[in-house]
Amino acid sequence: MPSSTDSLLHGTWLVTGGCGFIGSEFIRQTIAAYPHVNIVNVDSLSYAASPERLAGVGGVGGVADSPRYKFVKANIAHPQEVQSAFAACGTNGPTAIINFAAESHVDRSLFTGVPFVMANTLGVQVLLEAARPLVQKGSCKRFLQVSTDEVYGDIAPPHRSVETDPIHTSSPYSASKAGGELLVQAFIRSFGFPAIITRCSNNYGPWHWPEKMIPLFITRLMAGKKVPVYGDGLQRRDWIHVEDHAAGILAALLRGRDGEIYNFDGEVEIDNLSLTKKLLALANRDESFIEYVKDRPGHDRRYALDSAKSQRELGWKQKWTLDAGLQQTFNWFVANRSWLDKVLDEKYQQYYAQQYDVR
Ligand code: DAU
Repeated sequence: MPSSTDSLLHGTWLVTGGCGFIGSEFIRQTIAAYPHVNIVNVDSLSYAASPERLAGVGGVGGVADSPRYKFVKANIAHPQEVQSAFAACGTNGPTAIINFAAESHVDRSLFTGVPFVMANTLGVQVLLEAARPLVQKGSCKRFLQVSTDEVYGDIAPPHRSVETDPIHTSSPYSASKAGGELLVQAFIRSFGFPAIITRCSNNYGPWHWPEKMIPLFITRLMAGKKVPVYGDGLQRRDWIHVEDHAAGILAALLRGRDGEIYNFDGEVEIDNLSLTKKLLALANRDESFIEYVKDRPGHDRRYALDSAKSQRELGWKQKWTLDAGLQQTFNWFVANRSWLDKVLDEKYQQYYAQQYDVR
């Protein structure tokens, strides 16, 4: 354990993107597990943010009313807004910064990469610069950058990416995430920054925004609509439940070594078609509900991660199996139609038409 762990557990953590799918799960777990940690959640409330994720609706406990939780609306790419967010952490600023804020959908990045570079690359640099004086004076003890397995790019079987593998990106999304990571690594090298990078495989679970494959397919099947499978559907991904990912980030924050990278995967590699069939079975639909559509440009064929280092050094291990996690996720969506109805608004329908109707 780093000597800083005790002070980390008695401070204020600045969590960016805490109204997002993964950031909100991290906040829920932190508030529940660490009674002396305060959270300042900084979120720009862009399209995929949903404050309800912290408000305790949908059968998951709320934290928004906790005296240990504060929300600040701010964009991490804007230095002045970041300064206000730091000030909300108290006179010494945050003791730790955990950066979840990101534009994350590959297909959207193929329309325009500008918001991706702003949030995923420029935003990281702004945060790092804001944190630097606090790191120098010793009040900010950790900077954790949440990244993705997509930075490794297409991986030929049977290899599973390890943390020392090179970065080889394919989409504007993954390139912008790699840019953010490289800036963190530059701060580690140049300024001895106490930073950690985590890379995770495909997440799923309750509250997932229905543009990613699993929540999109569940939502469409619930509405009796076909699901759009890209290309031949034989691309392979690893799927991790969001609870396991958030637990991994907590473990890396508290037990990781400065300057290190940690992978997290779900230990379930599966092709899209097989995963689709599992979702069809959950929804009680047959294969006539599959619609093969034009492939995604530059589509990575396979991602696969090796998380042995995280298991060994952090004592972390996934808890969810894919089948149990999919069942729980499916049940959650069925039980939370009211959230879905809100999310599937006119803007969402426009996105869907732009993304799929032209295919
Ligand atoms: O690997 C981690 C990454 O996983 C994260 O860094 C990204 O933020 C996240 O978006 C995700 O990227 P993917 O592109 O793998 O996720 P997505 O859910 O968009 O797609 C999963 C697979 O399903 C991929 O092979 C494309 C395919 N797909 C996706 C959609 C949305 C379809 O066949 N049809 C679809 O409509």
